[in-house]
Amino acid sequence: MAGKGKGKGKPPPKGPGGGQRMMRVRVKTAAKRSTSSARWLERQLNDPYVVAAKREGFRSRAAYKLLEMDDKYRILKPGQRVVDLGAAPGGWSQIAADRVKSIDGRGQVVAIDYLGMEPLAGVEIVELDFNDPDAETKLKSMLRDGGADVVLSDMAAPTVGHTNTDHLRIMALAESAAYFAFDVLAPGGTFVCKVFQGGTEKDLLEVLKKSFAVVRHVKPPASRSDSAELYVVATGFRGRPGDEDPDESTK
Ligand SMILES: C[S@@+](CC[C@H](N)C(=O)[O-])C[C@H]1O[C@@H](n2cnc3c(N)ncnc32)[C@H](O)[C@@H]1O
Repeated sequence: MAGKGKGKGKPPPKGPGGGQRMMRVRVKTAAKRSTSSARWLERQLNDPYVVAAKREGFRSRAAYKLLEMDDKYRILKPGQRVVDLGAAPGGWSQIAADRVKSIDGRGQVVAIDYLGMEPLAGVEIVELDFNDPDAETKLKSMLRDGGADVVLSDMAAPTVGHTNTDHLRIMALAESAAYFAFDVLAPGGTFVCKVFQGGTEKDLLEVLKKSFAVVRHVKPPASRSDSAELYVVATGFRGRPGDEDPDESTK
């Protein structure tokens, strides 16, 4: 396993708590600590996924979201080329590297984030804003044969607390991720992307439905129930919208 080399790539049975009840930790509000930061700390200390991620050497609790989606939908296979958009601190890249066997040089994982990321075995890291005009060319130049089998996007801009603004920002990232996926995915490829409750925007969903055999909205158990996040899992890439053979479409 990548990272600290401890994880087996799966949480223990019956969820990350291994079926055992965790002792609840209470955090007192010290003079210097605000009530909201005490609440955040208490939630972290009592979150079985945070505890399991630490124990298994995963860089984020988010790693379990991809793990759960992959266990259910068999997204990642040995030898595949994967792009991980918004990869820091690297939980999803760890799972991808383990499952496509990029550590053994079989598959490939290319990860991008504007935040710095510690090196990770089997992962090629690009520190760049995905919206940078050079980002797409850079990623394509790094991918074997210039293409990918799986495009993952867990990109999220920092929330401002204004629901409509946060929704618009995450959907703009999802749309750029989708159009990048249309450009790089090989036939049969998969696109996994964070969206917001209410699902993918109607226009984007229409395009995805035309371009992929199956499009699902998934809320993995590791995604907090009080979070509006959701993932779109699109499998069986059929080609970029508008790329149909003109002779075929007139038949
Ligand atoms: C929820 S975190 C990803 C967690 C990651 N999947 C993991 O398992 O460790 C979202 C990431 O998206 C990144 N991000 C947001 N907008 C981005 C952009 N325009 N370009 C690159 N990265 C971006 C953020 O910096 C952040 O690290």
